[in-house]
Amino acid sequence: MIEQIKFEIKNLLEKYYKDNGFDVSIVVETPKDPKLGDISVPMFTVVKVLRKPMPQIVEEALNIIKNASLPIKDLKSVGAYINLFVDKEVLSEKILLKCLNEGENYGNSNIGLGKNVTLDYSSPNIAKSFSIGHLRSTMIGNSIKLILKKCGYNTFAINYLGDWGTQFGKMIVAYKKWGNKEVIMNDPISELTKLYVKFHEEAEKDPSLDDLAREAFRQMELSNPEYLDLWKWIREESLKESAQIYDLLEIDFDSYNGEAFYNDKMDPIIKELEEKHLLHEDQGAMIVDLGDNIPPALIKRSDGGSLYITRDLAAVFYRKKEYKFDKILYVVGNEQKLHFEQLKMLVDKMGYDFSDQIVHVNFGLYLTNGKKASTRKGNVVKLYDVLQTAIKLAYDLISEKNPNLKNKDTIAKYVGIAAIVFADLKNYRGSDIDFNIEQAVKFEGQTGPYLQYTSVRIASILKNVEFDFNNISKELFEKEHYFELVRLVSEFQSTIEKAANEASPSIVAKYLLNLAASFNHFYSIEKINASDEKVRNTNLALAKSVRIVLNEGLRLLGIHYLDEM
Ligand code: ARG
Repeated sequence: MIEQIKFEIKNLLEKYYKDNGFDVSIVVETPKDPKLGDISVPMFTVVKVLRKPMPQIVEEALNIIKNASLPIKDLKSVGAYINLFVDKEVLSEKILLKCLNEGENYGNSNIGLGKNVTLDYSSPNIAKSFSIGHLRSTMIGNSIKLILKKCGYNTFAINYLGDWGTQFGKMIVAYKKWGNKEVIMNDPISELTKLYVKFHEEAEKDPSLDDLAREAFRQMELSNPEYLDLWKWIREESLKESAQIYDLLEIDFDSYNGEAFYNDKMDPIIKELEEKHLLHEDQGAMIVDLGDNIPPALIKRSDGGSLYITRDLAAVFYRKKEYKFDKILYVVGNEQKLHFEQLKMLVDKMGYDFSDQIVHVNFGLYLTNGKKASTRKGNVVKLYDVLQTAIKLAYDLISEKNPNLKNKDTIAKYVGIAAIVFADLKNYRGSDIDFNIEQAVKFEGQTGPYLQYTSVRIASILKNVEFDFNNISKELFEKEHYFELVRLVSEFQSTIEKAANEASPSIVAKYLLNLAASFNHFYSIEKINASDEKVRNTNLALAKSVRIVLNEGLRLLGIHYLDEM
């Protein structure tokens, strides 16, 4: 809001000088000492360009700002500066009214109107357990999607299942050697995981198993019916496990076209690479050189098998054509940085101009007790189990704090999920996270449940009381703890836009923590349900606005708000 006024002053003055034939760039500042004002405009640059005496220039500018009917309460010149105090009463009333009227639509933006963003996230590897490592992609991707939608973008969400590649050759070899259908049917994913682990253990002793696996995969690419049936079965069973998690987290996708979908779409791309003389042979394999700074992209194995990058290359062209994206976001871990650099370079080399629309939305590792979770070595951390543990912990906490609460199961579910999701999204996505479940579920500290609890606290204040926004005490907004809350409420939209531009849910998460902290500070010094009617109306309107923003902000992170907990 103050940003908006600054922007208007800048435009106003620049336009005025322009109309008089001068190009001046105006810098509008915030004074270090708030006693001087909320906004300050230094006029040195103008003096330099116009070559008129300072007092005359300052006087002129002062009048222009004065006549512009901006919400400004007081302005005066101090030397070469014009210092302004915004009208906190008028501004606050305007902002809160807008928030109260718009409700959950408050903060909506149209920066994305008419633009398409394709998102590629979650994308677990079939036949492996849905590990906690995929949580980050799922939650970050889902939140980015919600944030983009709020900004008016058309989104298309793809779960690019890792359902193709040599690992399926491995599964098939392992299944045929050691597998048992009945045993697998009983508990598909853990049995398949066991087989996968066993394959790696055995292959360390006997590397010829890897050759068998490569051959099996090649057979799949050639549509060997027995292998494809087996693959289909494994894929379906694996998807059931992922679906459990998506249901719990309320995550949905517009497409589940995974790597296998591109099996028949790679040949034309390989042909195009050939025709453009980009592809050449190297020790029997086909590669594309990408220059000195980056290793070549391996497009075809010596045995003819395709690779991860080959499928991604086919996918990006398919998606460009199909979804006409202005941007495509790949929400994938840091360890695949090189992969996406190669993908962009390949698109460049092929002579297309959209490689800058390809964005690797990278993220760090998920550590538990300082260690990386991995399926290969067998120390599987199942996301579903972690979620259930969080829900159980939440249930215990709730029962202790509020034994008579109804719907404890549902509430515990939402609180547990909030704990896990927020523990992830509050961090800048590029960093590694060390995750501590007991910490994450707590109702205090920087947690999801803390934000839910703050919202619940406001809900209980608002319960069964009415307020009239036409009868408030505007002068209260001059007080710092009031105006701080109004300022935060007013910054909701620009915060969301920033998060959208940077594909960074943590910007929203941190903002919500600030908002909740400021509210709780407010709550500790003001009796919200005050006996004075006007004061009460003001406080309740402010509290309700904070709740609107909190709830909507939580939604954008993929977290439910609650009325009770
Ligand atoms: N399935 C991959 C993995 O778990 C992630 C896929 C990411 N998306 C992509 N288009 N490459 O490592």
